[in-house]
Amino acid sequence: MRMPDVTEPFDLVLFGASGDLALRKLIPALYYLHLDGRLHEEGRIWAVTRSTTNLESYLEHIKQAAHQYGTEVEPKIWQSFIRRIRHIGMDLDKASGYAKLAKKLQGANQRCVFYCAVHSRLYPEISEQLFAQNIINEHSIIVLEKPIGSDYQSGQAINRRVAEFFDESQIYRIDHYLGKETVQNLLALRFANSIFEHQWNQRYIDHVQITISETVGVEQRAGFYEGTGALRDMLQNHLLQLLCMTAMEPPSSMAPESVRDEKVKVIKALKPIVGDDLLDKVVRGQYEAGLIQTKDGNEMVPRYRDEPGVSQDSYTDTFVAVKAEIDNWRWAGVPFYLRTGKRLAERSCEIVIQFKEVPHSLFEMQNKKTMANKLVFRLQPDEGVRLQMCEKRIGNHMQVRPMTLSLNNAGQKKRVPDAYERLLADAINGNATLFLREDELMSAWQWADPILQFWQQADQRPEPYNSGSWGPAASTLLLAKDGRLWQENN
Ligand code: BG6
Repeated sequence: MRMPDVTEPFDLVLFGASGDLALRKLIPALYYLHLDGRLHEEGRIWAVTRSTTNLESYLEHIKQAAHQYGTEVEPKIWQSFIRRIRHIGMDLDKASGYAKLAKKLQGANQRCVFYCAVHSRLYPEISEQLFAQNIINEHSIIVLEKPIGSDYQSGQAINRRVAEFFDESQIYRIDHYLGKETVQNLLALRFANSIFEHQWNQRYIDHVQITISETVGVEQRAGFYEGTGALRDMLQNHLLQLLCMTAMEPPSSMAPESVRDEKVKVIKALKPIVGDDLLDKVVRGQYEAGLIQTKDGNEMVPRYRDEPGVSQDSYTDTFVAVKAEIDNWRWAGVPFYLRTGKRLAERSCEIVIQFKEVPHSLFEMQNKKTMANKLVFRLQPDEGVRLQMCEKRIGNHMQVRPMTLSLNNAGQKKRVPDAYERLLADAINGNATLFLREDELMSAWQWADPILQFWQQADQRPEPYNSGSWGPAASTLLLAKDGRLWQENN
């Protein structure tokens, strides 16, 4: 897909402009869009922060953060970028702040995007106040960060309130994994090539593994993470979205409703995890102290409960693994093993499509199982696609060995744009294809809710795992019970 350009003037109001997400991702993404000349010159960014800050200190803050998080700042371009930024200091729960915002936005561009990079409990208040100040017009868009709510009920309440002030077509629920280059490439490989589609089903695919592993711990985000955990932070959204992109039927076009209709069908077809399956098919973990590999060697890191801001008796999940099943013709009997965790052995994100073994083996192989074809979509740290196949070992014997075909985007654009660059440009342009519709989000909560409820009610504790490992022993067992191994052991 061609990277979009923002061709119209716009105003982007960034709530939570000095928060972790804005500093790490949103401001750098806007800077790179500016650097690549992809923003309309009359595009303005309104940074909304607490009333104690001013423009000067905010600009200093984002400059430091840009260096800290590795943005390649070219001083001259940075100077021209920050000319787009205006600052508004206000308290999000006080009406007076919105009156000030309304005044500043007088004569704003037609396209006004309100980006909510704050806790989702504030979304209704923000929407209501924008409405009360008459700032919303038919071209306005509101972007909502995940997780929206903490379960089905709270998610529904937030959506309903926001929907009183914005039409569904104006509500952009963002999941940045959908903006990642390899996820786009997954669609391209599936739907722009005819060779995969015939194999893309339960007749040929043994199982699918989707992993998002991080080496970082909770960092300075305990305030958010303690009430959230890995299931709400990663599984209910990022992992399920990757599952949808892998499993959905071909949409009739790339129009938002075609794509979202197909994704929602997948989520609705997910088999509910209830009863004994809550113990058999779900693993919940929390990290202990351990050694993490860094570029400067090994580092001893503390357990989750000793992280700043975390309670000593916290049961928050920092790891979750699930055996998900899709009850439809294409996927009946094909498990989708999903897992994510913090403080794991390495930072990576991969979708592994494990094909079935050949029905009858003619050749000598070391291990027939590990040599079945495998298609791996790697989203990070580097992006690329590889296909594992078998070839003859050179020599007299008729022996075969595995070989890998790499489908990297070699020769294409050097810097792989961050997911937020694409999604911010899409939001400003009013292209909702890669954003979630309400029914998608609510179906995802519906699937996740029984697990969350079980964790609350039963005498359930997360299983400890050492930092620097691949998670609790139960995670290995989840696949071993089915005679399978996670990708790193294969
Ligand atoms: C965010 C989560 O949505 O995704 C974080 O809130 C997580 O906890 C992050 O670290 C991972 O994103 P990425 O793109 O770095 O894999």
